Amino acid sequence: MDNFIYHAPTEVVFGKEAEDQTGKMAFKYGGHKVMLVYGGGSVVRSGLLDKVKNSLESAKISFVEFGGAKPNPTVEHAMEGIKLALEEHVDMVIGIGGGSSIDTAKAIAHGTANPDFELWDIWTGERPLIMSLPVGAVLTIPAAGSEMSDSAVLTNEKIGKKSGINTDFNRCKFAIMNPEWCFTLPKYQLGAGITDILMHTLERYFIPDYNCMLTDEIAEGLMRTVINNGLKLMKNQEDYDAMAEIMWCSSLSHNNITGLGRPKDFSVHKLGHALSAKYDVTHGASLSAVWGSWAEYLYKYATDRFGQYARRVWYVDSLNDEQASREGILRTIDFFASLGMPTSLSDLDVEITKRDIQLLALDATKDDTVKLSQIIPLGAKEVMDIYMAAM
Ligand code: NZQ
Ligand code: ZN
Repeated sequence: MDNFIYHAPTEVVFGKEAEDQTGKMAFKYGGHKVMLVYGGGSVVRSGLLDKVKNSLESAKISFVEFGGAKPNPTVEHAMEGIKLALEEHVDMVIGIGGGSSIDTAKAIAHGTANPDFELWDIWTGERPLIMSLPVGAVLTIPAAGSEMSDSAVLTNEKIGKKSGINTDFNRCKFAIMNPEWCFTLPKYQLGAGITDILMHTLERYFIPDYNCMLTDEIAEGLMRTVINNGLKLMKNQEDYDAMAEIMWCSSLSHNNITGLGRPKDFSVHKLGHALSAKYDVTHGASLSAVWGSWAEYLYKYATDRFGQYARRVWYVDSLNDEQASREGILRTIDFFASLGMPTSLSDLDVEITKRDIQLLALDATKDDTVKLSQIIPLGAKEVMDIYMAAM
């Protein structure tokens, strides 16, 4: 087991009517003038935005609204939010929605606290953060895990790149999670969210040669919970207990508790981000489309790990690692399909040529300068083979 620091400081308010505590939480963490960041309007239509505003008013906290964050949120949009936040002297930013609204809120917090920085320079690492504003989250889709993660992902449309930064300034001070607000989710977004949750732990799991028993047990328990309750939600989206389980898995799958004591991988995310940057594919769909070919390519170099996954997560009844690995991969792909997710690039509604695949592989590997995966190093050539196998 490697040395680690575990720091997951977000105060979680979970369950029915949790949103009524937004004002109390904003006050506790020092908000006087709050910016409420949301997306394309689902929180207006559901009535959640009004409930959050009422809660802030009760706590005598003033606010300004900033909507319009779109899935795969952009630098350009966040910069508009920074301009408004500076004009309005905002001192706290709350994202209401999913990863796109919360990550936009994080970007606005960073940019507002550092008005002399070009926002994208923070994302490239050219301008490291030494301060930011406090951020809160009111979650409406269990998926990205941004409500507890140290990450924020933006797309720079001008240069066609999507990337994330990891910093403790991305940790929300508080996260409000009422599963009932997720009942209105479009089924495709729910399926994409469940895929992303599973993937955040899969990306931490396929790391060979580490002995981390407790981390394994937590990860395997979380994955079984996601599979069990994900299937329940596909039948009945208003199953409160199933949605509550999935929502809590969303946060724990990406706050790092399922990866303690070993390195992270996130190679499937690198392949997915390249796809989303070029074709604006929904994040979860970009992952399920390539995971099968990624796993087929790599399992033979880590059959003990893939075999353990198959036996403990899918209850595959085979002591032979090779056989179990293959069965575990097939069941995972079937699970994505049962969530209505694409399981190949041809399932995505986009035209991709061999030349495009080359460019995607170069994007995912930063022009072949970084190697992906902890199993065997994947350069641009190997990543291209994986994309090709996913066609
Ligand atoms: O924009 P609105 O109108 O709110 O609609 C959204 C959006 O169209 C809709 N939606 C959300 N909650 C709803 C709802 N519709 C009806 N009822 C509800 N309760 O769902 C759509 C997707 O929303 P989005 O915020 O994009 O979803 P998600 O949470 O999957 O976030 C995706 C973004 O997060 C990034 C992804 O790359 C992507 O940009 N990620 C962020 C991470 C992080 N910060 O830690 C980690 C992840 O790996 C991921 O990269
Ligand atoms: Zn993800």
